[in-house]
Amino acid sequence: MRSHDVVVVGGGVIGCSVAFALSRMGASVVVVERDRVGAHASRAAAGMLAPITESPDEGAGFQLGLESLDLFPSLIAEIRELSGIDPRYLESGLLRVGEADEVEPLRARAARLEAHGCRWLDGQEVREREPRLAPAIEGGLWSPREGHVDGFLLTRAYAGAAARRGARFQLGTTVSGLLWDKKRVRGVRTSAGEIAAADVVLCQGAWTGLAEEWGPLHLPIQPVKGQMISLEAPQPELPCVIWGAGTYLVPRDDSLRVGATVEHAGFDVRTTAAGIAALLAGATRVMPSLADCTFREAWAGLRPGTPDDLPLIGPLPGVSGLTLAAGHYRRGVLLSPLTGLAVADWILSGKLPAGLAACDPARFQKSG
Ligand code: GLY
Repeated sequence: MRSHDVVVVGGGVIGCSVAFALSRMGASVVVVERDRVGAHASRAAAGMLAPITESPDEGAGFQLGLESLDLFPSLIAEIRELSGIDPRYLESGLLRVGEADEVEPLRARAARLEAHGCRWLDGQEVREREPRLAPAIEGGLWSPREGHVDGFLLTRAYAGAAARRGARFQLGTTVSGLLWDKKRVRGVRTSAGEIAAADVVLCQGAWTGLAEEWGPLHLPIQPVKGQMISLEAPQPELPCVIWGAGTYLVPRDDSLRVGATVEHAGFDVRTTAAGIAALLAGATRVMPSLADCTFREAWAGLRPGTPDDLPLIGPLPGVSGLTLAAGHYRRGVLLSPLTGLAVADWILSGKLPAGLAACDPARFQKSG
């Protein structure tokens, strides 16, 4: 049996961020991944970094998103240097546009968020940024700190940087169970044998709930499907992320990513006529000239949803040697820097940042 300080189960953006943070702090880490690094939601993601626009309110999730966003510039510099992979992080700003019925709520939100650099732009001002907006758009909330990153390249950069710091990646290997010693987890059972470890971290994204079969664990994480499409980038390219009519538009190299549906459809990752039609309808409602762009491709990913849309980060009550870093729902890419650091701190020093109280896995544990 091989032995490591920490086994990270899952090689998506969260698992690779956790592996990087741990190996950077000197831990011996192995990542066990059934496919390849970043093969699922991390690859499907549009890579929007939108803690302000994507949060329904200014609660705990909003604060964590902002904290994680602040970590990006220095983190990207470090993992780019170590891995040689550029995750194409860009603080492009985000324009959340609205038609007549959205003007008042968006204007009020812009006023509340002034401290974060946000402001309301009227119809003329939004068209100074993007003249191709539909005539029905009456203004928008401008959020200058938000932006985007390539989720797949970010995952590979975390993995490459972790490998440079000594982490091992066991790809194409399925974890089938945990090794238990009473209420303590001592490692994992895999398709390639057992691996002993002082700590195991579960980061299997939308599949994390399936680990309930591995012991007395309550993991309320369900897949939430998101269909996406990409178009050939219109010329000139969009100057920033634009969000309106229930659709977001994220410029990426020579393409424009359009997302995303929100569907409770189990582990189904089919793209459907209805899904693609809804995305095209939203995109062209915001910017009618997109109807002329060449259609490139459609795909779907599975977000790890939780009952309160917040992740589970930390230990499970009554179980030692097991840490969760899962259930990030729509914000895995955004929250990956913060999650990696928090999990590494927890495992190596036994402390979790106070700000993560809302993500304590204990909140879902059944009493009695
Ligand atoms: N973060 C974008 C989405 O989940 O659709």
